[in-house]
Amino acid sequence: MKKMWRLFSVLMVATLLIGMLAACSGATGGSSSVSVGIVLPTKDEPRWVQDEQRFKDALADSEYTTEILFSQGSSAKEKENVETLLNKGIDVLIIAPHDGAAAGSAVEAAKKEGVTVIAYDRLITETDAVDYYVTFDSVAVGAAQGQYLIDNVEGSNVPLYLYAGASSDNNAFLFFQGAWEVLQPKIADGTFVIANSSEAVALKDKNELTRDELGKILGQVTTNWDPSEAINKAQTHLTAAGANLKGDIAILAPNDGTARSIADVYGSDSDISSYVISGQDAEKASIQYIIDGKQSMTVFKDVRTLVADAIGMAIDILDGKTPSTTGSYNNGKVDVKAKQTNVIVVDQENVKKELIDSGYYEASEFTGL
Ligand code: GAL
Repeated sequence: MKKMWRLFSVLMVATLLIGMLAACSGATGGSSSVSVGIVLPTKDEPRWVQDEQRFKDALADSEYTTEILFSQGSSAKEKENVETLLNKGIDVLIIAPHDGAAAGSAVEAAKKEGVTVIAYDRLITETDAVDYYVTFDSVAVGAAQGQYLIDNVEGSNVPLYLYAGASSDNNAFLFFQGAWEVLQPKIADGTFVIANSSEAVALKDKNELTRDELGKILGQVTTNWDPSEAINKAQTHLTAAGANLKGDIAILAPNDGTARSIADVYGSDSDISSYVISGQDAEKASIQYIIDGKQSMTVFKDVRTLVADAIGMAIDILDGKTPSTTGSYNNGKVDVKAKQTNVIVVDQENVKKELIDSGYYEASEFTGL
């Protein structure tokens, strides 16, 4: 009997200890604490998977612990991700918002905990809870897309099909503004005829559009950054188009993911004799499309630079230094100190120089180079 009791009490103590250990590890969120938390919009778009890999490459030998989480196109998931990282004790949050305005509550929670917030690629709007912003020159992205269409069409009355990004993304307004400001004079002089937006036609004589006016056009031609939505819109526009809006055409596509989808739709219409189409992000699949002549150009945004800028800022902050910036963006509430990187136009002429010789991609990842 005595033996039984001793065994029972040993077992009790052992169970107690294991319980406490589990409780301890739960409190610190599974593994060790994290100094820099990184939140990206979605894993469903090649663009952001690129950034994840570039962050991992850049942080491989860093002494700082970091964690990358994806918001899968949901502001609620994004908020949850930020809370998870706050529970792990981050000091710096690097975040590319799914929805620039909706992200306000997540970063305000971070600010309350004394965390420094760096907006990544996309601006967080309507809040003062964002300290820094690293980005590419998004207006220049749109201007480069528009200029490429102008430089690659002939004659006049060229049908112009307009597409845009998601209105929840502040960048989508900047891209479209940049494209419109170079295209509008060529619409007004009859080089182009707008084929798929009554709102844009109504504004064809106005070069500098207000946010509301841009919003009206985006409302009609948005792809929501979703390739399948882009396909549906393109098919609808093609079905509605008369013979005068076919033949040799120009297409403003906001990024590579949507550009490939739109190109496939227009490319499969026998009444379309040729198309020139823009893109953005230098996604691998679009580089192959460019090599194959199915997409005309992309705007290369060297994510290695954006990652280096973001990590550089985070390390300065962790070291108690003030990060250097090159300007600022007003987000509707405050002027956010920013660091901006230039962009590069890539087409068949310079694809090897800009993307292979620069080490961004391996030649072996493509055919027909
Ligand atoms: C933008 C970003 C682009 C693009 C897009 C879709 O904010 O700047 O590079 O790919 O989102 O996610």
